[in-house]
Amino acid sequence: MKGIVIYKGKYGATAQYAKWLAEALYLPAFDLEKQLLDNLDGYDGIMIGSPVYMGKLLIKDWLSKNADVLHHKKVFLFVVCGSAGNKHKQDDIIRQNIPAGLENHCEIYFLPGRVDMSKLSWYDRLIIYVGAFFEKDPQKKQLMRRGYDAVKREHINPLIKDALHYSNTEEVI
Ligand SMILES: Cc1cc2nc3c(=O)[nH]c(=O)nc-3n(C[C@H](O)[C@H](O)[C@H](O)COP(=O)(O)O)c2cc1C
Repeated sequence: MKGIVIYKGKYGATAQYAKWLAEALYLPAFDLEKQLLDNLDGYDGIMIGSPVYMGKLLIKDWLSKNADVLHHKKVFLFVVCGSAGNKHKQDDIIRQNIPAGLENHCEIYFLPGRVDMSKLSWYDRLIIYVGAFFEKDPQKKQLMRRGYDAVKREHINPLIKDALHYSNTEEVI
């Protein structure tokens, strides 16, 4: 019985959370951008990490492609984003990205992310500037323009706790 951390990110926030999780739970971490994952056979507990870009999970297509297989696994999905504290936006992200049926049998965690303006591609920077232009809340507008770093190890504590609880009861991860 085995577990694995699978993730796909762009600027390092998701990779950082994946690394912390893998270390804490003694699991291998698998970067879908760099490695080819043939199949999920043999893995029972699967942690999946993805950031949100313009409302879309970077891992959305992979989730759809593997939905049938994932239905037979224990799935912990960690979503890294700028709206981790906004329940309304969380619901939108779930509704628009998680394949039907999968949502009901996977645990979903929203983890605060990071935007480092100096590292963004010109296209992503443009998207942020346009978003900031239309943002009405002056505080949020400022934050969008400057960037932010809310990535902290302590945010994965609930995930670690639930995964350990699951592994103790199911002996999976
Ligand atoms: C161009 C751009 C678009 C983004 N769109 C969203 C969004 O729609 N919703 C959200 O909550 N966060 C959004 N974010 C915030 C990212 O999800 C956050 O920066 C995350 O930490 C990125 O993770 P990564 O470093 O692993 O790629 C956006 C960030 C950028 C740069």
